[in-house]
Amino acid sequence: MNEIRIGLFGFGVVGQGIYRVIRRATNAHASIERICVRNLAKPRAVEVDPSLLTDNPDSILDDPDINLVVEVVDDPEASYRFVTEAIRRGIPVVSGSKAMIARHLPELIELQRKHSTALLYDASSCGSIPVIRNLEEYYDNDLLLEVKGILNGSSNYILSRVFDHGEPYDQALTRAQQLGFAESDPSFDIEGFDSLFKLIIITVHALGVYISPERIFTYGISSISDSDIRYAREKSMKIKLVAQVVKVSADRFTMFVMPEFVTPSRYIYSVDDEYNGVVIRGECYDRQFMFGKGAGSLPTASSILSDVMARRHGYRYEYKKMDYVDRPDYTTDVPLKIYMRYPDSDFLQSIPFTRITEHYTSADYNYVIGEIPLSRLIEIRDRLSDKNVFIANFPQFFLDLDD
Ligand code: HSE
Repeated sequence: MNEIRIGLFGFGVVGQGIYRVIRRATNAHASIERICVRNLAKPRAVEVDPSLLTDNPDSILDDPDINLVVEVVDDPEASYRFVTEAIRRGIPVVSGSKAMIARHLPELIELQRKHSTALLYDASSCGSIPVIRNLEEYYDNDLLLEVKGILNGSSNYILSRVFDHGEPYDQALTRAQQLGFAESDPSFDIEGFDSLFKLIIITVHALGVYISPERIFTYGISSISDSDIRYAREKSMKIKLVAQVVKVSADRFTMFVMPEFVTPSRYIYSVDDEYNGVVIRGECYDRQFMFGKGAGSLPTASSILSDVMARRHGYRYEYKKMDYVDRPDYTTDVPLKIYMRYPDSDFLQSIPFTRITEHYTSADYNYVIGEIPLSRLIEIRDRLSDKNVFIANFPQFFLDLDD
């Protein structure tokens, strides 16, 4: 590819960042030829030649001069249509649409193979941190045991403001929206679904296995209270929203998204504000840590630029791990140790703990710490969405194969 001529779908926070970054990147030999938006009249922070704008997707898809589609549309259904149509026409695509990719990845992989073209999406997971391509290429061996970390900038920003600056939760959420970190529906951030989508994509590139969203336990931070924060503080811990995919035996792995107690000795303890932090653990090398801005216009655009450059060299994901014979099986038959704030004794009795190790009750605050299988948490997840309930995981080593 000599000159990269980009058709850009989406011109919101990330799209405008891409416009600025591509103009700066002279080595990319890339230019944005057309920008497809939903509303031509909408005022935008970045000044752009109006002749570049269109509201007709076909004026990109039908243009034979455009040789790369970049898609950052804030609407999973529209994004699915644009991406699949481009691939069907053999046009390579760079996308940041994690919700769409996480829901449709098996089909998107098939389409890429069928039409001999590429879909790159490092920007979909952890903003500026190069997670996907590293997992796909460098960690292409049997040693990988775990990928775990803070994958959502907005919820981490909120927790940082609340823990470190004593700000009210709602004020921190509003600020995360103003700064352009949060999704247009911020419940995706704070209920853990944004982290979940990224975790699904990461798992495909980490272990070669696709698990659909509804099979994965996902719990966010929306019901966190002052009592939970005080409990963590008194024990010199922070609470972070953590997503993890982890091998629990030689041939099985589990994955979930849940708030977690984090002690100062952990790398992710000092991952604050909109930063993300990803810990990769493996046999022989113990732990590695990747840290960087996980949300925001320019950090995400930098990752898109990296994928644009990768296309210069014809790079595509090969999904090699999906063809390996010894892929691990997904299990939720895993014992967890959790903290649960609960409203009353009837509620507590309905929770199938296998063992309770600590129990506190008072006039305005009750909690237990106990063991419960992940599979049982999935069964009772509707009950856990009560505002008077909050759960957080105590991290544990599931598997140590270092001897
Ligand atoms: N809303 C997302 C976040 C944006 O806060 O991490 C980046 O994916």
